[in-house]
Amino acid sequence: MFETLKKAPVDKIFALMGEYRADPRKDKTDLGIGVYKDPTGETPIMSAVKKAEQKVFADAKTKTYVGVSGNRGFCDAVTDLVFGDAIEKSRIASVQAPGGTGSIWVLLQLLNRARPGGTMWISDPSWPNHQPMCELAGLNVKAYPYFDAESGDVKFDEMLACLDKMGPEDTVLLHACCHNPTGANLTNEQWDKVAASLKKTGAFPLIDLAYLGFGDGLEADAYAPRKLASELPEVMLAFSASKNFGLYRERAGCAVCVGSDENTAAIAYSQMANIIRASYSQPPDHGAEIVRLILSDPALRAEWEAELKEMRERMVRLRVKLADAIRERSNATDFDFVARHRGMFSLLGLDKAQVEHLKLSNGIYMIDDSRINVAGIPEDRVGELADALLAVAR
Ligand SMILES: Cc1ncc(COP(=O)(O)O)c(C=O)c1O
Repeated sequence: MFETLKKAPVDKIFALMGEYRADPRKDKTDLGIGVYKDPTGETPIMSAVKKAEQKVFADAKTKTYVGVSGNRGFCDAVTDLVFGDAIEKSRIASVQAPGGTGSIWVLLQLLNRARPGGTMWISDPSWPNHQPMCELAGLNVKAYPYFDAESGDVKFDEMLACLDKMGPEDTVLLHACCHNPTGANLTNEQWDKVAASLKKTGAFPLIDLAYLGFGDGLEADAYAPRKLASELPEVMLAFSASKNFGLYRERAGCAVCVGSDENTAAIAYSQMANIIRASYSQPPDHGAEIVRLILSDPALRAEWEAELKEMRERMVRLRVKLADAIRERSNATDFDFVARHRGMFSLLGLDKAQVEHLKLSNGIYMIDDSRINVAGIPEDRVGELADALLAVAR
């Protein structure tokens, strides 16, 4: 039977990770895969996570099933973190799912039940997994204008014009903050306009929140979900604890449906639970329990927030250093957008040949669309990186 199938394409990010590991050069630079790195190039376990994990192990008494919708304390803590007091709690239906990806998957299944074969609009460009995930869920995918490669900013007027033409049958996938892959984000005033447009057209938002706290702070990064959920009758949101808690492999995420009232929220909850039961039955508990403990324990929470702040500020510092180094060398402002961007990524606007050249000649690895992970910038060799980028860009 298997011979009747073709080999499926390899995920380009994981393929690049393999190439990087196999490269014997000592001075190679990994700006590829989207995981946070500390100054030594490691992806550390956060100290609050380590402490919470030890407590989870020490206190555990059973490994029995938790339930289809997972760790309720985790879901409540996450939805409090995301929505604060912006909306009535009775409107919120949430389930724990395996990471942000698992959360998006549950929501896409629900969407395809409500609007079979419907249209999902994703940003141009978007996280490379969005399109295949939507297609696997049976949805049609279209792109709305987003990134202006010339300026490095969001083409907001074009984006809004596209949103304004949508109708109630359309669904729009929006990156709440720290846009992946571009790093270019909407201002609060622009989010207000997006909310007004969705309110007018009835188009339905699915908010991807994979980097809460990686942009401008926990409160600032929650602006879009709070605005959209308070202005619109219904929204869906996928939360990931992979990056902001550094829990990548533990697969902790939360799928949220905000209904117009308690009754619609209850319907959405039952549908999500039904989808989960028929697919993977229950999510893994370990990462979710760590997050629950951190968010509910004032000392652990303060420690986590301080570590998250340090990570966020390091990424901003690296952005500024790289933009400064390029400007000092070239007397041009072409890469200043790197300092304006937020989150873990920036799209540099290089073509595939330039990206390949940087890999072969300089051992600098980035995704072939020229997305860099700014947390991978070697702080002591920013000048070398600036030289290499300028050489290839000229
Ligand atoms: C935009 C976006 N959404 C969702 C995810 C999913 O994250 P995870 O499934 O690892 O929690 C990622 C991870 O890279 C992402 O960048």
